[in-house]
Amino acid sequence: MNKFLKLIFIFSNIFIISCDNQKNMPENNIYKFPDNFLWGTSTASYQIEGGIINDWSTNGLDAGVSADSFNKYKEDINKIKFLNNNAYRFSLEWARIEPEKGKFDIKALQYYKNILKELKENNITPMVTLHHFTNPTWVSKNGGWENNQTINDFLKFVNFTVNELKDDVEIWITINEPNVYAFKAYDAGEFPPYKKNRESALKVMSNLLKAHAESYHLIHKIDKKSKVGFAQHIAILEPYFKLNPIDNIFVYFQNKIFNESFWESIISGEININIPGINGVNEPYNPNLKNAMDFIGLNYYTRWYVNSSGEQLIDKKSELTDIGWEIYPKGLSRSLKIADKYAKKIGIPIYITENGIDDGNDNKRNEYIINHTFEVWKSIQDGIDVKSYMYWSLMDNFEWAEKFKPKFGLYTIERKMRNSALTYKEISQNNGIKKDLLKIK
Ligand code: GCO
Repeated sequence: MNKFLKLIFIFSNIFIISCDNQKNMPENNIYKFPDNFLWGTSTASYQIEGGIINDWSTNGLDAGVSADSFNKYKEDINKIKFLNNNAYRFSLEWARIEPEKGKFDIKALQYYKNILKELKENNITPMVTLHHFTNPTWVSKNGGWENNQTINDFLKFVNFTVNELKDDVEIWITINEPNVYAFKAYDAGEFPPYKKNRESALKVMSNLLKAHAESYHLIHKIDKKSKVGFAQHIAILEPYFKLNPIDNIFVYFQNKIFNESFWESIISGEININIPGINGVNEPYNPNLKNAMDFIGLNYYTRWYVNSSGEQLIDKKSELTDIGWEIYPKGLSRSLKIADKYAKKIGIPIYITENGIDDGNDNKRNEYIINHTFEVWKSIQDGIDVKSYMYWSLMDNFEWAEKFKPKFGLYTIERKMRNSALTYKEISQNNGIKKDLLKIK
């Protein structure tokens, strides 16, 4: 009897494993994504439009004409159609729409209405970002995001633009990478206003969080059908020396504050962002903050190794991008797992709002896109509700403090197509990844 039971046990396990693999096998040789999955590219106003006067252009980081999308947006949308994309993420330039406090330029808004009209005519779903690192000069003169008043100024801008554009926009991203903006602009001193004060960075994090939460409720008041979230940049962090306790403590704090503090605050409704040795930000329960997101926006690029001085280093032995970031596709599924912890608490989906590679010769982008989208496919099989993959970026553009050196585009800034665009076009067209692309036997 015993032998018989053992045999039953063995065969039933073989049966379960083979079923499990069947679940993960491609349908007719394509690793299919869910119906209505959104495939697109992401851009940002100051990085592509040209001709903008804001707190960057007047502070030593002038993008000038940049990719000139202000004049070439129809050509851009033709490229998006060529890629068989069904979505496009772009941002509104606050400085263009409200160049002076309280003076809203309806003509400037017409540019964005034209884009939305073109997208609608081509069944391309817009994802609109309201704040992507830049501010009108009058905002920075008023103390920028350290000044609580900026929250109210931002809400007036949100109220005006959402009322004007609500008929053609459903997915709103309030703020792009509040963590990156706060730390680059107020702690690292790399973005305007070039401050190097960690306490200021935490104060800015808190004000951006409140601005997001108030915008969330305001947008829902204006348009019930809207879906509102913010785009969080996740960096996969590992200790430089695995067993070094100091390295691990830095990883713990950097992960908690940089990667997860916004989500923690929204889940709890309280803001408690503290770094040992400096004044953190601690605010009591705010019902407007609690669960204030309809989706998680996720930007993922790479992995960093944190040493015992808290520096984030790259493993130089790994495969690197042009600017020296590690190419680490597994980091995308690891980031999705972190985000899913919070998404499942509210019962909301995840939109990948940015993932891409700076690769001027286009000899790594093909593999990068295939391997990162395959990590998304595997995450979906594991029960993570991912709704979009937005490649950063449609064309080469102004890469902030690195200016025009990094080449993230599927197209060059002159709109010359890179061959890897054809791979993304195929994945987008198939709503899936052909098995032979993965060279999986
Ligand atoms: C960011 C921004 C983009 C960048 C892209 C490449 O994540 O910094 O959202 O504006 O250009 O991520 O660094």
